Amino acid sequence: MDVREAVIKRRSIRKFELGREVSDADIATIVEAGRQAPSWKNDQPWRFVVVRDKDLLNRLGDCLPEVNWAHNTIRMASACLVLVGVPDEGAVHQDKPFWLVDCGIAGENMYLQATALGIATVWISMLDGPAVCALLDLPEAMECVGLFPLGYAPEGYEPSPRGRKEPSEVIWFERYGQPFLPQAG
Ligand SMILES: Cc1cc2nc3c(=O)[nH]c(=O)nc-3n(C[C@H](O)[C@H](O)[C@H](O)COP(=O)(O)O)c2cc1C
Repeated sequence: MDVREAVIKRRSIRKFELGREVSDADIATIVEAGRQAPSWKNDQPWRFVVVRDKDLLNRLGDCLPEVNWAHNTIRMASACLVLVGVPDEGAVHQDKPFWLVDCGIAGENMYLQATALGIATVWISMLDGPAVCALLDLPEAMECVGLFPLGYAPEGYEPSPRGRKEPSEVIWFERYGQPFLPQAG
């Protein structure tokens, strides 16, 4: 699968086939995609925690509020990747937390790599971060940036249609407000 196909195919999947396990080799490939992400001055202000234990998965699931669309997803997962940010190892420049940007890129790399392997996931950040940190014994200076439960979408599962702002709403040419009208080919 090339990059464009992975970008178009990638969707947030919140339901997994029960009992179908994701291999350690595939998990290692997904985490490696995160580890290879670019970062401000190559800070790499991240850690990755792989969670397999069912009891721990259930307890991670308890860290999500019921209003979270992915409330039950972690309980169905074969494993969960925890993307951890280390602000002290990263940069804040002109008030912008680039350590968080760096973690975001690592997260998207993992999303795309999972897609390319046919593995379903969803990025989850609406959660009780301190509770996740406590559960995983994370050092105090670290933050939970996101959870990525891993599994396989059930047979025939179709996520809702992809909603995106129109190109004409968000893409401009030379100056803000001037439409970008690419030539075909
Ligand atoms: C930083 C971030 C945090 C997110 N947190 C959650 C979350 O807590 N729960 C959830 O169900 N989806 C979460 N998502 C997934 C988004 O809801 C999803 O990407 C968006 O609706 C677009 O759908 P798509 O990923 O299928 O294209 C998150 C995505 C990102 C990038």
